[in-house]
Amino acid sequence: MTEASSTSHDSIRAVRWQGDHLRLLDQRRLPSEETYIDCRSVDDVVDAIRDLAVRGAPAIGISAAWGVVLAARNDPGKLDAALSALRAARPTAVNLMWALDRMKKAIVRNSSADALADEAQAIQDEDLAANRHMGELGAGLLDADTGVLTHCNTGSLATAGYGTALGVIRAGVDSGRIARVFAGETRPWLQGARLTMWELLRDGIPATLVADSAAAHLMKSGQVQWVVVGADRIAANGDTANKIGTYQLAISAKHHGVRFMVVAPSSTVDMSTPDGEAIDIELRSPDELFAYAGQRTVAAGAQAWNPVFDVTPASLIDAIVTELGVVHRPDEAGMNRLFGNVR
Ligand code: MRU
Repeated sequence: MTEASSTSHDSIRAVRWQGDHLRLLDQRRLPSEETYIDCRSVDDVVDAIRDLAVRGAPAIGISAAWGVVLAARNDPGKLDAALSALRAARPTAVNLMWALDRMKKAIVRNSSADALADEAQAIQDEDLAANRHMGELGAGLLDADTGVLTHCNTGSLATAGYGTALGVIRAGVDSGRIARVFAGETRPWLQGARLTMWELLRDGIPATLVADSAAAHLMKSGQVQWVVVGADRIAANGDTANKIGTYQLAISAKHHGVRFMVVAPSSTVDMSTPDGEAIDIELRSPDELFAYAGQRTVAAGAQAWNPVFDVTPASLIDAIVTELGVVHRPDEAGMNRLFGNVR
């Protein structure tokens, strides 16, 4: 795999093409086990995306691109079916559809597995470069001695490497501007507790875990000046879908005078979705709420509602940081200035 050399605080790679198959760090098993799954067919990749072995908007898109390469190697006559199966694996993160649209265009140019592998590799390499650039742009918005709160996992695990919001945190720690990092647990799947804490500690970034329900109290304490999160889809007016719980963080941030930053590559921006109302929010099984660490915690017969993303209105966002630039106080006009001619 071609890859820019790692910078400090950036050692993890969750998605790796192995020449004839795709190797994914199995995020369902972290942090207790660091195991990998080898995807040798498009169905393996669909299963890995749907079952969250790989998750995080950019990582889903990159994996799907490699899934198309596997389809071209194994069954070149069924590329359309492969594209459809991958597209249906998860609904909210538009990076999946973006990557598949890009692979579709590549198929029209040259559908050989080697040519498609070049395109998948380009998608992966561009994501890593975008993350590094966003890290610099986002960290540049922070004052000295800043405390940040992040949500879900937006790091190397969720991308080609370095991360989006976690990229800003990596860059902010490297430049000395970030003095305190807090991560919310991110119920129910615990991306913050299980993944972000593992990733930050492994890369030598001190971080403090908080229960999701501690966020407002943390903001009130004055230890946090910015909430820094990623995104799964940013609509044409700046409304942003991200992991469930992000919206309540934005409301709380506004109340406490804490600023709110969304960090995402342009592949997460969907100018064909006018606003947050039009974003398809994934509903997952209620079972994810009924158990903790495999142990049933809720009375038998209970019902649960499990939307796994929510939409933060643009009016609660101070800055959307992308590799193409920063949209301050996003609205339709600001988004259009930066993304009107993209795609
Ligand atoms: O359900 P997940 O774990 O795929 O959700 C991930 C998130 O919501 C992330 O915040 C988002 O994809 C940005 S990752 C750089």
